[in-house]
Amino acid sequence: MKLAVIAGDGIGPEVVDEALAVLRAVVPDVETTDYDLGARRYLRNGELLTDADLESLREHDAILLGAIGDPRTVPSGVLERGLLLKMRFALDHHVNLRPSKRYDGVTSPLAGNPEIDFVVVREGTEGPYTGNGGALRIGTPHEVATEVSVNTRYGVERVVRNAFQRASARRKKLTLVHKTNVLTFAGSLWQRTVDEVAPEFPDVTTDYCHVDAATIYLVTDPGRFDVIVTDNLFGDIITDIAAAIGGGIGLAASGNIDATGTNPSMFEPVHGSAPDIAGQNKADPTATILSTAMLLRHLGKTVEAGRVEAAVVADLAERGDAARSTTEVGESIRARL
Ligand code: IPM
Ligand code: MN
Repeated sequence: MKLAVIAGDGIGPEVVDEALAVLRAVVPDVETTDYDLGARRYLRNGELLTDADLESLREHDAILLGAIGDPRTVPSGVLERGLLLKMRFALDHHVNLRPSKRYDGVTSPLAGNPEIDFVVVREGTEGPYTGNGGALRIGTPHEVATEVSVNTRYGVERVVRNAFQRASARRKKLTLVHKTNVLTFAGSLWQRTVDEVAPEFPDVTTDYCHVDAATIYLVTDPGRFDVIVTDNLFGDIITDIAAAIGGGIGLAASGNIDATGTNPSMFEPVHGSAPDIAGQNKADPTATILSTAMLLRHLGKTVEAGRVEAAVVADLAERGDAARSTTEVGESIRARL
């Protein structure tokens, strides 16, 4: 397995170290290439992601990413647009897969500690993230700023079909989350696409939920969801809620997937670089370790993925909500492999 590793900034290198040690324990012959990408390199030489970086990343089977960003030294948007989103777009990561599961031993902030087990399939290459927009009369009282949401039939259909496939392999329920009552152009495209793909998956029931209402259901009745499909921005927002209800951002894993397999997919924790706790051996590496399990599953290494997940499940069951250091969590999970 040829793995590109982008440890990144803040707590990124700490959580990636633990995840790589777990990975090597189940796949001893993994070959890694380290990439110096993120705030440090940008501050050193102004480089974000060069064509050569991209070309070289493409030679790998998958990418493991820790976290990128340093809000104290790099202006907001520079690394997001110039590095993280550029990678997702250039490598055609159209399926942004974000499972939400409350594991035994973990307490959800929701009353009654309900069972939570759903996945969000967030579109990853379109929507308002494309940078289509602009500003006029900047700095004047008449400034106008626009951000245009791009939704193509091709882009919507491929992510909707992927979500149906996942629902068919799970509890067979797919919920489209959008805002069709206001965003009528994009909303109509999404709803029609779901309706037109649905006959290919007769076993899957479809449902629709406005995004504002979805935020209510996520905290009052998360059991109603199995697979959610949604656009890039709505998906960004609801997956933070999904992480919180499942026991916290320290456990939330994600995959940025090119479902065609043409480009390497990238796996990363949902959390950011957390500079406030960087270097203190405090960050929970579980989200990165679970992202590694998703990576293994994506590459067809289901047995190895299952071993990592089982070790995490066993560790969480014992650890519960107790705070542990980064290295303690990594060691404890490896001891259970
Ligand atoms: C995420 C992050 C990113 C996003 C940012 C850092 C560009 O919030 O992965 O959810 O909005 O997708
Ligand atoms: Mn986010």
